[in-house]
Amino acid sequence: MPLTSYFEEIKVWTEETLHRLVPHAHTHPARLHEAMRYSLFAGGKRLRPMLAAAACDAVGGNRDTVAPFAAALEMIHTYTLIHDDLPALDDDELRRGRPTCHVRFDEATAILAGDGLLTMAAQFLTKADLYPGVDPAVLLRVATETLFAIGSQGTIGGQVVDIEMENKAPDLAALEYIHTHKTGTLIVASVRGGALLAGSDDDRLEALTEYARAIGLAFQIVDDILDETGDAAALGKTPGVDKALGKLTYPAAIGMDESKKLAARLADRAIGSLAPFGATGSRLADIARYIVARSF
Ligand code: IPE
Ligand code: IPE
Ligand code: MG
Ligand code: MG
Ligand code: MG
Repeated sequence: MPLTSYFEEIKVWTEETLHRLVPHAHTHPARLHEAMRYSLFAGGKRLRPMLAAAACDAVGGNRDTVAPFAAALEMIHTYTLIHDDLPALDDDELRRGRPTCHVRFDEATAILAGDGLLTMAAQFLTKADLYPGVDPAVLLRVATETLFAIGSQGTIGGQVVDIEMENKAPDLAALEYIHTHKTGTLIVASVRGGALLAGSDDDRLEALTEYARAIGLAFQIVDDILDETGDAAALGKTPGVDKALGKLTYPAAIGMDESKKLAARLADRAIGSLAPFGATGSRLADIARYIVARSF
């Protein structure tokens, strides 16, 4: 199956699960649920659900087993986008091709819609009856790892340093910390969670973790590149904001050419980590190639 069809299949699979789990827009308090659904169903590549599904497939698991986990990842990711766009952070007005949540609704609603998505994700990460056939100890491990990944030593830590480093002299150690944390940790948790829920052994989990670390960093480097080279229609967000905010990015620190080379090397490294999987790793390899070749 070509990657584009796989993408489509994963989108449908993710969105069906989200529709099943997330309260309807008219559920009281309606404005909150409307805002949560507005950002969740605005599109998006559904990369993190795709990684969970592909990791599950690579270890020979049943994809239904990871569906609620994949939906929870997208709730988490969407919450980070809503908060990332707030005036106090990146102050963006366009996301997934629509006005950002705080523009379409208001700031308080956007903050609370993000909080609602995050807490809902924690609920669905730990609701054992959604994961028939999964050992509760494995589910608890996945939930703990995922919540650690998005906390103060993961995504939030990365976001804090991203803001602290605005308009500061380039510092490669800080830059790598920002990217591996604000973006990488959730990508690693997506791959590991998909593999663990599918019953992965330690060796395959280790190989997949190496893969995920490499694509996680590559993904954010390419996000930086696209902020300089992409256009709003394709990206669904406003380009050029990193420069305007004085963000510490790879193109700003090492230049555009070196950034592209580094992303390509990381994709190669990721694909190299898949060696133990042979042909069953080909979908994950496709995703690594896609991450560096993408235009949105
Ligand atoms: C954007 O993520 C924010 C980053 C972590 C770079 P995506 O590029 O995955 O956004 P969507 O989900 O496709 O909208
Ligand atoms: C955002 O990084 C990372 C998270 C949302 C955690 P960016 O600020 O670069 O993401 P975009 O470019 O707004 O999507
Ligand atoms: Mg940001
Ligand atoms: Mg941003
Ligand atoms: Mg960006």
